[in-house]
Amino acid sequence: MQKVIFDTDPGVDDAMALLFLHKHADIDLIGITTVFGNASVETTTRNALFLQQEWGISAPVARGADQTYDPARTPVPWPTFIHGDDGLGNIGVPDHVDGNLDPRPAHRFLIETIRANPGEITLVAVGRMTNLANALREDPEIAGLVKSVVIMGGAFDVPGNITPAAEANIYGDPEAADVVMTAPWKVVVIGLDVTMKTVMSRAALAETASQGGKAVELLSDISQFYIDFYGKLVDDGMVVHDSCACVYVVAPHLFESTTGTVRVLCGGIADGKTIMKPDGRFFPPSAWDDLPSQTVCTDIDANGVLKLIHDTLAA
Ligand code: BDR
Ligand code: CA
Repeated sequence: MQKVIFDTDPGVDDAMALLFLHKHADIDLIGITTVFGNASVETTTRNALFLQQEWGISAPVARGADQTYDPARTPVPWPTFIHGDDGLGNIGVPDHVDGNLDPRPAHRFLIETIRANPGEITLVAVGRMTNLANALREDPEIAGLVKSVVIMGGAFDVPGNITPAAEANIYGDPEAADVVMTAPWKVVVIGLDVTMKTVMSRAALAETASQGGKAVELLSDISQFYIDFYGKLVDDGMVVHDSCACVYVVAPHLFESTTGTVRVLCGGIADGKTIMKPDGRFFPPSAWDDLPSQTVCTDIDANGVLKLIHDTLAA
């Protein structure tokens, strides 16, 4: 069993990823930390508690950052046109949900849980990287105590999805993402290069819901608004960005990757752009030198990933 803390901004594709982590037999979901992004942190935390209750998830939710790592940064508006006003496809989530809410802020929950399980925890981060960066700022030693960090974010050899240069999770807090990419821990980056290839059709989601019962029916209801939005970009279906990062934890063989040091541009017209210096390539001295080598995914067996998601949710 792999111990996972899920750092998330639910968020429609986040909801699918959460259900995957909850249902996969090889994953022990030990915490859910929330962050602003697809909606305010009040809303993403309420949504995490809602899904926790609906799906009978025992892991606690810890509420995280409500602003960027550098508080002077101008905030990005909530993408209500993708995830709905309620962050979950306008299904009418109750305003207040009682649930298993940890009293600690997310970054402290991360620090204390990592310290209590040295070398054992995989962090799966699929929103802004703010909670992870705040945890590193308070306790840099945790970098050496985490098993690995798998993030959904970035765009390397493809256009961004919020600007031509940047992917939304990174653009929403570039300074935090740069801290996470350059820290001395093992990061696996799952960006738009692979996630945009991974589309679950509306029909396939309906078929999964017909087998997976009430939990997947709720997920299907949540996802319809998002699928309508993505109709402008892909054939009728759901780009399963955040689930790709979760699948990597249990099935890394479904991905191709390369290694190198990664920096995030902070400011300028390419604000939030992720750039890798490949290992083994030599350049004059640059801002990519003397940093940890990270893993960047370059290709994906999309059908294999979609089948694993289907099989896990339908079980
Ligand atoms: C990422 O941005 C959010 O809208 C999604 O939940 C996903 O994490 C895709 O760019
Ligand atoms: Ca997300």
